[in-house]
Amino acid sequence: MNILAIESSCDETACAILQDGKNLLSNVVVSQIDIFKSYGGVIPEIAARSHLEAILPVIDQAFSDAHLISSSGTNDWDKIDYISVTNTPGLLGSLLIGTLTARTLAILHNKPLYPVHHLKSHIYANLLESSPRSFSFPLLALVISGGHTQIIRMTSHTDFQIIGTTLDDAIGECFDKIAKILGLPYPGGPSIASAALSGNPNKYLFPHPKTPNPLDFSFSGLKTAVLRTVQKSCNVNINFPSYELKKILTPQQISDFAASFQNTALDILLEKLTLALQTYPDTTSILFAGGVSANLLLRQKAATLPLTPSSILFPDPKFSGDNAAMVAMATFYEIKSQKSPSDPYKIPLASRTNIC
Ligand code: KG4
Ligand code: ZN
Repeated sequence: MNILAIESSCDETACAILQDGKNLLSNVVVSQIDIFKSYGGVIPEIAARSHLEAILPVIDQAFSDAHLISSSGTNDWDKIDYISVTNTPGLLGSLLIGTLTARTLAILHNKPLYPVHHLKSHIYANLLESSPRSFSFPLLALVISGGHTQIIRMTSHTDFQIIGTTLDDAIGECFDKIAKILGLPYPGGPSIASAALSGNPNKYLFPHPKTPNPLDFSFSGLKTAVLRTVQKSCNVNINFPSYELKKILTPQQISDFAASFQNTALDILLEKLTLALQTYPDTTSILFAGGVSANLLLRQKAATLPLTPSSILFPDPKFSGDNAAMVAMATFYEIKSQKSPSDPYKIPLASRTNIC
């Protein structure tokens, strides 16, 4: 059974073909990072236009890498059983390109079509590995990406309960904004992680926010606390433009701020997870999902969680960012759970929706 999946929710155009939920025949990802480095962040209009240029070549490449080319030299659609696509959440213009393409292909080639929630895909990235694992329920998934910070409790492949969520910024967004203040390149996560290697994580101490629901997150206060401390250590007042600070900071200060911020942000994640484990003592495993789960220090710190190491899952780093292989894996489990395909003429798009 072959699933062809498409992902275009933010700034990666991706297509993958997954066979029987275990053999990844192809996994093509074209990233727009180089375009957005000079802007320091994603510009939605440019992202949508770039998806439009990339989407058909990316799909062709996925067929070619999977060696699914017919004798006449065209993509062998007879070998595809299902099509799936990210339809929510994400940037609307970006989602539109992927979903319109998937809908058109499903109608043209008469294939069942599955719209998939982006966070579900990130969670199922944990099953993409050379030796596929399975989930043990109930589990807690910590989804940490550029747009989300959520703790999701799953008791089965079809039951998702959000037990904690960010009240303001997502953690990845916070990494990206702090990187911008420090003059480090986009995306901020990897550049903060690498600058932090030569910094002192205890040089600056930042507060851990309190939230009415203790399992919720809040990162905007941390972002402001870092900004104010940077301004103070540069001897400028709070009206000094944040984009000018990087000209004053020394390389050592940049590394110390990167290390101290990263350390605090990751400790907050682990504190909330520990609390969630106490609140749901029947939890048998924890899994990390989303772009921030690539963070190496987080992977080390997670070893302190009160669970056996084998029940703490991280996606293979090559699947932690946006890709279509994870969309295909999530689709495989939707099909296994007897979910019906959707009418290709009626796929809803939404920039924000909760996983269900
Ligand atoms: O899941 P993702 O690729 O896209 C969204 O769905 O948002 O996540 C992107 C986010 C960005 O904010 C990026 O800075 C962050 O993941 N990220 C990291 C690391 N690698 C990527 N954050 C911390 N440490 C990393 N190593
Ligand atoms: Zn993502």
